[in-house]
Amino acid sequence: LSEARLQEARQRVAAVTPYFAFKGIERFYDIGGFLKHPEVFEEVITLFADHLRDLEFDSICGLDARGFILGPPVALRLNKPFFMVRKEGKLPNSITGEKYGKEYESGQDRLCVPVDAVKPGQRVVVIDDLVATGGTALAALELVKRLGGVCTELACVIEIKALGARRLLEEKGFGDTNILS
Ligand code: PRP
Ligand code: MG
Repeated sequence: LSEARLQEARQRVAAVTPYFAFKGIERFYDIGGFLKHPEVFEEVITLFADHLRDLEFDSICGLDARGFILGPPVALRLNKPFFMVRKEGKLPNSITGEKYGKEYESGQDRLCVPVDAVKPGQRVVVIDDLVATGGTALAALELVKRLGGVCTELACVIEIKALGARRLLEEKGFGDTNILS
């Protein structure tokens, strides 16, 4: 993908993304804002699909909850299996990861994944709406790794670069995972 095309998509998303004071954050972006604009939603899905089309991978997962909106349309376009990485206690026959924190809230979450979602050696693409501290993404990458898989790509609509998710992933041994944002 060209940087110009990504930049144009970022501007289109930003133009339809309202923000509010929420959860102690002055500017909490409601990144679901673009879902009301089919042409922008379509462009986001197309960008993800175009980026992933020529890459080798086995499946796509979406992160609970907003990754569930973006992951399935991409998986359908590319004819790839989709699976859910959910918050703790929501999936049968699953393994649960460590607690992780996020940009806001003192409360912490845990994610779980079906034990048969990933076979050893498989390559997985993770899709979420937003990467802030990277805590959520890291938790998902660790679960994929525990099942013997590897996450090659992490695709999100917005990455808050100042919060250093790339550095966190590198520090935790996931520096090879490409972040598309
Ligand atoms: C939000 C967002 C990302 C995560 C990013 O999810 O959808 O998944 O925070 O933050 P991080 O990079 O600091 O981990 P959240 O769990 O708040 O809500 P959701 O269930 O609506 O997706
Ligand atoms: Mg989320």
